[in-house]
Amino acid sequence: MSKGFNIPEKVIYVCTGSKCKKKGGKDLAKLFREMIKEMGLKGKVEVVKTDCTDRCDYAPVMSMQPDNAWLNYMNEAKAKQAFNDHILHSSKD
Ligand code: FES
Repeated sequence: MSKGFNIPEKVIYVCTGSKCKKKGGKDLAKLFREMIKEMGLKGKVEVVKTDCTDRCDYAPVMSMQPDNAWLNYMNEAKAKQAFNDHILHSSKD
């Protein structure tokens, strides 16, 4: 059975193209999914893994919407900070 056509309030696009994946992109997507679940934000915030976004020199990269925050050279600490700044305390709220 397919999921309903849910439109989340916020979306984290995590590049998991080959370069970003090698530099931890997949782990960051997993981290965000765990945080969303733990914080009870499922359905409101969604993680979408993308293919290469043509910014490989800055890997791993991601963007957070609707803030339109594009983030590079991400690691776990920076990812948690960005989640706080752009998801929990979005400038669009
Ligand atoms: S693999 Fe992520 S920008 Fe190219």
